[in-house]
Amino acid sequence: MALSSLFDFDVKPPRYAVMGNPIAHSKSPLIHTAFAKQTDQRLSYSAIQVDAGGFKQAVGNFRASGGKGINITIPFKQEAWALVDERSERATQAGAVNTISFSDDGRCIGDNTDGVGLVRDLMENHSIQLSDARILLLGAGGAVRGVLGPLLAQQPAEIVIANRTEEKAVELAAEFKRNELLRGCGFQSIGEQPFDLIINGTAASLQGDLPPIPASAVSDKTCCYDMMYGKEPTVFMRWASEQGAAKVIDGLGMLVEQAAESFYIWRGVRPETAEVIVQLRTGQN
Ligand code: ATR
Repeated sequence: MALSSLFDFDVKPPRYAVMGNPIAHSKSPLIHTAFAKQTDQRLSYSAIQVDAGGFKQAVGNFRASGGKGINITIPFKQEAWALVDERSERATQAGAVNTISFSDDGRCIGDNTDGVGLVRDLMENHSIQLSDARILLLGAGGAVRGVLGPLLAQQPAEIVIANRTEEKAVELAAEFKRNELLRGCGFQSIGEQPFDLIINGTAASLQGDLPPIPASAVSDKTCCYDMMYGKEPTVFMRWASEQGAAKVIDGLGMLVEQAAESFYIWRGVRPETAEVIVQLRTGQN
């Protein structure tokens, strides 16, 4: 054994990364580096841009170079789901993987921490009650699929999934086999009654678009949550404020909470999220 390897400070720290495209503006390296500092864990965390068609190779290369875990973001979450050897129950249900761990015996294990990240942000950071709540979910793509299971687990009174392409919402609702409290529809069939919580999981905010939601969906008791975040409030958030929503929240807390759950899976330590959310919000890192 080389003498240097006897000393911990000479051993390379375990390597983690986020893979996606685009990836340059990812906040994951900042978040995981802050978690590592806070919990006294030695690790490195980088952002890797992967081109279309190159995902499997990139994962293989990272693993071969001693990588311990990878976060996966747009557009590779479904590909990651197909690639892993094993999946957690929540990843199976979500149809997408955002966290890969390489076990010491060589298995590649996929998990999905997006849903639990959303639920923790809503319940713990914003004190929003989900049990018995009437929830409107906008969109029926990967983002919404990923959070449906954890939201249903909180036993809401009802979840309506509304999507531009109605069939996709109807199919997604049917897949979860919870007819008594889950309904899929087009935006025109949302109904007249206000919701307790509206979550925007469409990609409309990215294009600066607003899904056509009836004003009656919002009352002064409604919380509106956009899974997106940016320096400025999204169009959906601005609309929600104009309708007089009780609370309007962006997806930064969800981002940090899903990262915390990944960190816990990899390191067995649960970081404090509040201080990291504040750091990101105020641009301190
Ligand atoms: P993601 O993984 O981010 O959910 P996706 O699977 O491509 O991405 O899904 C994008 C979602 O945003 C879909 O629900 C899409 O509606 P369609 O199924 O009708 O395509 C929705 N979406 C995208 N742009 C939108 C817009 N301008 N207005 C309303 N919904 C939009």
